Amino acid sequence: MCGIVGAVDRRDVTSLLTEGLRRLEYRGYDSCGIAVLQQGALRRVRSVARVANLAAEVAAANLSGMIGIAHTRWATHGAPVAKNAHPIFSSGEIAIVHNGIIENHESLREELQAHGYVFESDTDTEVVAHLIHRMWTEQAAQGAKDLLCAVRHALERLHGAYAIAVFARNDPGRVIGARAGSPLVVGLGEQGNYLASDVMALAGAVENFIYLEEGDIAELTLDGVRLVDRSGHAVQRDIKVHRASTHSVELGPYRHYMHKEIFEQPNVIADAIERVDTISADLFGQGARHAFREIDSVLIVACGTSYYAGMTAKYWLESLAKVATQVEVASEYRYRSSVANPNTLVVVVSQSGETADTLAALKHAQTQGHRHTLTVCNVASSTMMRQAEFQHLTSAGPEIGVASTKAFTTQLVALFLLALTLSKQRGRLPAAQEATFLDQLHRLPGKLNSVLALEAQIIAWAETFARTDHALFLGRGLHYPIALEGALKLKEISYVHAEAYPAGELKHGPLALVTSQMPVVAVAPNDALLDKLKSNLQEVRARSGQLYVFADADSRIASGDGLHVIRMPEHYGSLSPILHVVPLQLLAYHTACARGTDVDKPRNLAKSVTVE
Ligand code: F6R
Repeated sequence: MCGIVGAVDRRDVTSLLTEGLRRLEYRGYDSCGIAVLQQGALRRVRSVARVANLAAEVAAANLSGMIGIAHTRWATHGAPVAKNAHPIFSSGEIAIVHNGIIENHESLREELQAHGYVFESDTDTEVVAHLIHRMWTEQAAQGAKDLLCAVRHALERLHGAYAIAVFARNDPGRVIGARAGSPLVVGLGEQGNYLASDVMALAGAVENFIYLEEGDIAELTLDGVRLVDRSGHAVQRDIKVHRASTHSVELGPYRHYMHKEIFEQPNVIADAIERVDTISADLFGQGARHAFREIDSVLIVACGTSYYAGMTAKYWLESLAKVATQVEVASEYRYRSSVANPNTLVVVVSQSGETADTLAALKHAQTQGHRHTLTVCNVASSTMMRQAEFQHLTSAGPEIGVASTKAFTTQLVALFLLALTLSKQRGRLPAAQEATFLDQLHRLPGKLNSVLALEAQIIAWAETFARTDHALFLGRGLHYPIALEGALKLKEISYVHAEAYPAGELKHGPLALVTSQMPVVAVAPNDALLDKLKSNLQEVRARSGQLYVFADADSRIASGDGLHVIRMPEHYGSLSPILHVVPLQLLAYHTACARGTDVDKPRNLAKSVTVE
């Protein structure tokens, strides 16, 4: 989603800003821009093309300056056209970039128009630019100009979420940053000080960071950084060292990050479980041992792929630990009036830890009276990790492709460990069973490698899927969420319309869609529901549907007329979903490649959805 970079430096900042935007590209955007203070004037270049084009335009326009701000925009208010791209200016005096949504922008717009401001864009951001300008000129009239103070007073008028970076034509040595609801970090360097919505933007440029807290406002100059809270009182925040590995954001021999990340799964899962030699609540942080004993139920809240990880975990938590579990989509839960049980463990699952709906759901749960909260997340420094009582880092490493792959399988590993932990605490995990599960976890990377070796067969299927407009995915029990995830992957990157159903539901409606033109993907592990699933597949064959089945080696399903089978390794018990999702990721990936879509940056989507 939108990305911010800002800089005050002893050198020209344009290359640092454009490189920062390049590093934020993975979040998804539809326009970008950069503004600097050059020879006493605000100058900007904005583009609806890629950051590489913007960099070329910046060079062609001879843009240079020692302070500047830059932005990748994912349109919310106003179409993705150049006039709505950030930086947004007010009166040639104030430049601003903004992530988030200002909910009261309409009333503020009317008020500012009444004061003579003319709006040039359709964005909610422009009201913030004009508000700051108004405060700034009012201060000037009183002979007391303080940009930080003008920004702070403008922010008092806003409802909604924001991270912003601002500078003023008349104040050449200063950039102001502020956050409420959207992340923003300050990078501290020897040559200057910087702002970014994600540490990744400054990877390689600085190693010392301050993670701004809710309501914080930062003033960056060459001499240092001043921090105040929303009331203007000075605040101190810890400096954290973050040595970003530039290696992990390089593509290497792969064409796309998604492909690279699918193939990284054996290694990242091996890393995630390397030090797990016993099941213990300590895997979830200090104090979890005591708190997990108190809980009598689990509520998992997440969005998208992370929600499907939660759905899978429900099966594990209820079957292994016998702990009643509910799973809810975060955007629904946060606005629903629910009955809080203080003995429920609320688990939020998120790759980024910044998804606005999931973060709001976590806060909502806390205000509703839920005492125990756990974040399962891939970004150690994220807001969700800081907000929850307990944390578990999934250790998948940076995931750049918009479609989540390795983050999902590492979430599944984390949630499986949670189910084993609760099971052990409740006396339901005998030592021999614990040893068997640990052994299976440690052998999982090897099993994943054998699944990845099926790629050539999957590429052959992808040719067919690339020519279709619709597909159905079927699964049962523990593998129903995997069917949902397979359908989501296919639709989001290849734009093939795909639906997933629990196979037993087919006859209650979706069977009407089945014709000889409809590919039906079935996830067919050799588990207790296999015979039921086989009957469901017969229902498809009887209507001439084309079946594409991922069958465990021991599930006795053979290829035949209209029945295409890829043979998976032998059934892998409770961990089977982690194996079965991988061929579905590959099917989506190769279908998208065959259709020539922008795999890593699918249309309309963003990596980290930091707005509602
Ligand atoms: C799909 C995908 C999304 C995310 C969702 C939640 O491939 O990546 O559905 O899972 O936007 O994001 P996180 O996990 O960052 O909270």
